[in-house]
Parts: sequence; C-alpha cells; structure tokens
Amino acid sequence: MVEGRGWRFSDIDHRPPGWQLLWQEGRLVVADGRSKLSLGVDEIFRRARGGNLAIAKACRGARRVHDALAGWGTDAMTLAVLGLDVVATEQDARVHAVLAERIVALRTANPGVSIESKNVEASRLWRASEHFDVVYLDPMFEPHPTTALASGRMQALEAWVAPTPTEDLVEMLDLARGVARVVVKRRRKDPALEAPDWSIRAKAVRFDVYRQRPPIAPPGG
Ligand SMILES: C[S@@+](CC[C@H](N)C(=O)[O-])C[C@H]1O[C@@H](n2cnc3c(N)ncnc32)[C@H](O)[C@@H]1O
Repeated sequence: MVEGRGWRFSDIDHRPPGWQLLWQEGRLVVADGRSKLSLGVDEIFRRARGGNLAIAKACRGARRVHDALAGWGTDAMTLAVLGLDVVATEQDARVHAVLAERIVALRTANPGVSIESKNVEASRLWRASEHFDVVYLDPMFEPHPTTALASGRMQALEAWVAPTPTEDLVEMLDLARGVARVVVKRRRKDPALEAPDWSIRAKAVRFDVYRQRPPIAPPGG
C-alpha cells in the first residue's frame, strides 16, 4: 500500500504492461517500460511567461476558474500561474494522484499560486453553491485519423481513461452554462459542440466560448 497527499493505492507496481503508475525513489512516476513521462512544473512557468496564450484570452476577465476535466493539470496550473484562482477536478484516481503531486511541486516553486484539486466527477461542483466565472472543458479527443502518434502524455491518458462521448459533452456544456461562462477546447478543425458565442483560435486547437445562460425567470415574475 502506498499513500500520498489525498491518494492511496494498493496496486501500484502490479499493473499489466503498458502505462503504469509507479512509486520510484519517493516519487510518483508514469512510465511504460521504455519511457517515463516528464511532468515537472518548469514548463508551466515557461508557458505562462511566453504570454499571448489563447487559453488566457478565452478566460479573459475571469477570476475564479473551474478546470473541470483537469487531466495532468497543465492548463489548470498555467491559469493559476497567470493569477487566476483555479479549482481542478479529475475523476480518475491515478491521474488525480499525479495532478495533486504536480500542484504540490508548483506551490513549492511559487507559494503564491491559488489552485486546488479534487478527485471528483466535475458536475458535482455545479450542483454545490461554489461560484465560478469560467468552467473550462478540455475533453479527450478521439484519436486523430491522420496526425502522427499522440504524445506520451496523451498515450498514457488514452490507456487509462475513455474518451467522453460527444453527447455527454453536450450535456456537460449545457449543465455548466447554467453556472458560468464555458470554454471548450476543440481540435482546430473539429465541429463545435454547438454554436459558440465566439472562438479563439490557436495553431492546432480552438477555444469555443459560451456565455452563461441567463437564469429562467420564475413564473409570473
Ligand atoms: C484531455 S484530459 C485534460 C488535459 C488537461 N487539460 C491538461 O492540461 O493536462 C481530460 C481529463 O478529463 C478527465 N475527465 C473526463 N470526464 C470527467 C468528469 N466528468 N469529471 C472529472 N474529470 C473527468 C479524464 O479522466 C481526463 O484525465
């Protein structure tokens, strides 16, 4: 049994071949026997320093963001380093364990960042009384028929987590729009889940932005 900050596994090191979560020299490691994912946090500071990020433009004006489908947390941590207050949810326990460790490393490097993670299904937060200015959805894309092999990070996610069916994403978008503005990351040429209010285009991806739905007026109100 290996236990860490908010996670606990009995089957570490006993998974079949393929991408595994390992405990090596006091650290969580994601590896597949040939290579090891590099999940340090220096890249987050470099990315944030680079400026002019499409994701930041899509979240412009927001203070508190819910990164609902947080994965390894690269986007969530970038937004936090840019000064936003971020809550990151990840429902897969192994992915969340890695995310939680990355957040600890980020805080060690920059104690001023405001970010927390929760190992829960995202929509639970929309039923609670939490306030968000933006809900960010970066779902797993279906494997692309023509592009080269996915990055190691994506391969590991694909091995552990099933892609979210489009109809579930449309339902998520609808639920999330009830509580905040919603930003959805799509591949640049993929169709939108539904017509966005506006989009921000980057090299390979697009951020579709949906305004929060106005509350329904009570009957007779
Ligand atoms: C493509 S990844 C996100 C990558 C992330 N933006 C990053 O920068 O690393 C999508 C993640 O969403 C998680 N996920 C899918 N449905 C979810 C849900 N309903 N609630 C919470 N997490 C979910 C998956 O387990 C997966 O790790």
